[in-house]
Amino acid sequence: MTDAAPKKLHIKTYGCQMNVYDSERMADLLAPLGYALTDRVDDADMVLLNTCHIREKAAEKVYSELGRIARLKHARTARGGSMILGVAGCVAQAEGEEVLRRAPYVDMVFGPQTYHRLPEMVARLHREKGAQLDTDFPEDSKFDHLSAAARVEGSTAFLTVQEGCDKFCTFCVVPYTRGAEFSRPVDQVLAEARRLARSGAREITLLGQNVNAYHGRDADGRETGLGGLIRRLAEIDGIDRLRYTTSYPAEVDDALIAAHRDVPELMPYLHLPVQSGSDRVLKAMNRRHGRAFYLDLVGRLRDARPDLGLSSDFIVGFPGESDADFEDTLRLVREVGYAQAYSFKYSPRPGTPAAAMECQVPEDVKDARLKALQDLLNAQQRAFNESCVGRSMPVLLDRPGRRAGQLAGRSPYMQAVHVDLPGKQAEAWLGRLVDLTIVAAGGNSLRAAAAEPAAGRSPRRIPA
Ligand code: 5AD
Ligand code: SF4
Repeated sequence: MTDAAPKKLHIKTYGCQMNVYDSERMADLLAPLGYALTDRVDDADMVLLNTCHIREKAAEKVYSELGRIARLKHARTARGGSMILGVAGCVAQAEGEEVLRRAPYVDMVFGPQTYHRLPEMVARLHREKGAQLDTDFPEDSKFDHLSAAARVEGSTAFLTVQEGCDKFCTFCVVPYTRGAEFSRPVDQVLAEARRLARSGAREITLLGQNVNAYHGRDADGRETGLGGLIRRLAEIDGIDRLRYTTSYPAEVDDALIAAHRDVPELMPYLHLPVQSGSDRVLKAMNRRHGRAFYLDLVGRLRDARPDLGLSSDFIVGFPGESDADFEDTLRLVREVGYAQAYSFKYSPRPGTPAAAMECQVPEDVKDARLKALQDLLNAQQRAFNESCVGRSMPVLLDRPGRRAGQLAGRSPYMQAVHVDLPGKQAEAWLGRLVDLTIVAAGGNSLRAAAAEPAAGRSPRRIPA
């Protein structure tokens, strides 16, 4: 029910998938106030930037975007209109008042744990003069306040099951911006998953900053780990595919590995960030895994699911990283063989231990290492994509392609897949899970041809 004339809301989301989930929930929370989403920032009555603080560039991008929006807001006000401008997410949490100092035209600043109070903030904004700042870590969980009417567009959806991080890797701001580890109760997760399935989601990605730390309580007060949760979710009618991210290797337990072996709905693809292949650097990063542990874990996962594709995050140029340490990273990459991976230059974040470490690595060395690592990872990604040619695999065709009659979707390995179909068939297959034969591979995507009629509900195992 709306209590006001329709208004337009534009949300720009930066950073990780947890921010994407949070932005969707913000839209849910504002819908009862009459806000409908728009893609056009210049047409919006409210603009929210849901920000990321993980690397310096991410934060600076926010300030330059704010400057651009300030001009739009000014023009709108000059025409007799108005625009509420809000900064949400991790930059808001980390910088608080500093956002208002650097961008005084901002009306609301709120963190990832307080956005459920958005309707209240908007009401106060209308009542009181001055900007609203809310960057608490409240006692009550935002999840208890989220709308039961969560919407889903298309056939894939995110579901946050865990939040926060207690691991304090020495480079990372997340434990400061997202707070302590928290797991949503099992029943709350199952209820949200059922709602998502009813509104058309066939693939659900479970989200958590450290999703392996999930230990939610079920109705009887028993703790359930991520492996147990995945088994329960796989039983829900209509859910054909499950994924989870982001993993912390030291907390991948046997029950989760067993879920990879036993649950066909769990996709054979895992993002398992290692950060570095050097024990010395991993120790300085305060990661709780060494190189040998990580390689052993990869082996155990592949024993459980031989067709598993792996992805990772890497940081190059961590303080004190020597040429030999970097070589260890390249060696680890060659040993594992990744389907895909992300790599970053170390970016000192104020307040984190690594920012104060001596032996910061010069920028030109970081550049050279990043290039060498990315060349290797790109070659591995290309080889992995090429290894898919000739194979048949289930593809969830979740969106129209660029051309008429073309559909696009995701393989089990998260590769983008395009397929050209006769007009009527494209219409009929949109949103469906279909077995397709991969006929060509590029660096970033695959092309497929229709092989068989639409697959049944259960995805099939793909032979390694
Ligand atoms: N500098 C560079 N990369 C970082 N990441 C996190 N913090 C930093 C930093 N200070 C990377 C890590 C993490 C990913 C989400 O971002 O690789 O896994
Ligand atoms: Fe950051 Fe992940 Fe380390 Fe937590 S486990 S501190 S989120 S890098």
